[in-house]
Amino acid sequence: MEHTYQTRRPRIWPSFPGIAEDRASGALARLENFTRLVSDMIWEADQHGVLTFVSERAMDIFGVPASHLVGQKITNIGTFFAPEGHRQSPNTERPFRDHKCTIKRPDGRTRILFVSALPHYNELSWEISGLHGTVKDVTPKFEVERLKAAKDLAETDSHVKSEILATTSHELRTPLNAIIGFSSLIQDETFGPLNNPAYMDYIGNIKDSGEHLLSIINDILDTAALQSTQATLCPSTFRLIDVMQSALRLVQPHAEKDDISLSCVCAEHDVHLLADKRRMKQIFLNLLSNAVKFTARGGRVTIDFSHPPGAGLTIAVTDTGIGMDPNDIKKAMTPFGQINTDTDQAAKGTGLGLPLTQELVELHGGTLEVLSQKGTGTTVNVHLPENRIAADAAR
Ligand SMILES: Nc1ncnc2c1ncn2[C@@H]1O[C@H](COP(=O)(O)OP(=O)(O)O)[C@@H](O)[C@H]1O
Ligand SMILES: [Mg+2]
Repeated sequence: MEHTYQTRRPRIWPSFPGIAEDRASGALARLENFTRLVSDMIWEADQHGVLTFVSERAMDIFGVPASHLVGQKITNIGTFFAPEGHRQSPNTERPFRDHKCTIKRPDGRTRILFVSALPHYNELSWEISGLHGTVKDVTPKFEVERLKAAKDLAETDSHVKSEILATTSHELRTPLNAIIGFSSLIQDETFGPLNNPAYMDYIGNIKDSGEHLLSIINDILDTAALQSTQATLCPSTFRLIDVMQSALRLVQPHAEKDDISLSCVCAEHDVHLLADKRRMKQIFLNLLSNAVKFTARGGRVTIDFSHPPGAGLTIAVTDTGIGMDPNDIKKAMTPFGQINTDTDQAAKGTGLGLPLTQELVELHGGTLEVLSQKGTGTTVNVHLPENRIAADAAR
């Protein structure tokens, strides 16, 4: 950023021969028009730097009428800074350009300005007789730069975080899989009886805790991957009902334990999707496991879908559970948002399932809708766009 004009011989206005008055009034009119047209604020000051004229743009930049600035020293209109960043007022005895200045307007807003000036000189003594100058409002430019810097920092930060998560994920999953695998072997008494009911109880606990920890780690890693925009879909064509049923099979034991009826009530069996099969299963699994988890003994959970012509496809997971009010829903949709945090059900999760599910649905170009009433139950609708229905089997 250049801060001073090249020092030149002092400028002395030439005197025009001939019809001087006509020329002068023409020049004045031109000057007035330019002053009004330019987006910078134009100002004049006396030899001491005291403002004697300020153009109407003062109102837009300073938020005060031009007359409020007249009489102030140009160096007092705000805080001036040198290019190196420290405070420094411009030397008004020399030309200067784009000297950075910040001001606080009466409405509380801060503006960043570039102030430039050219001194003019007395024809006879060559002493400074005053200054002509401009003030440019560069706040939007600085704001864009500041936001860009903040965005770059955040992106680097999140990139570093996902790198760490990606490398630690393997380290975390490997021992957990060993814990889960070996505790399963012991629980099944594959190599001989345990001969002690307490041990059988403990090994069941170890296995459940290992599985729980693994699901938490998977949710956290998925969330991190989606937030760092690493997530890409691997689309294939598959039968929707098959994926629904494979998710149902995984939730079935939990439903049975709590005496909850779990069913797929779909009438159509040959609808095919063009989507990421693994992600779709994850979506259904998250919604079904929530439905079972937040439904009391003896309740009912169903999964269904409909595809009205031209309106895409909607998969609905409905339960007769504890339900949520509108504020609960808002909270549930935020990462780590859980409603009754002191309950056993909440302890079984991380609060990442629903926001993750929403991201996965949106990654498919769809939307997630939660309809719920406290004490009555919940329906979560997954809307997928028409182009997710595989053409060959769509109708
Ligand atoms: N079907 C549902 N019925 C009632 N509450 C629900 C349902 N699904 C989700 N919630 C509420 O939303 C919260 C967040 O859900 P989720 O993101 O899946 O996290 P988690 O299951 O790990 O607790 C849950 O803790 C629960 O309070
Ligand atoms: Mg959940």
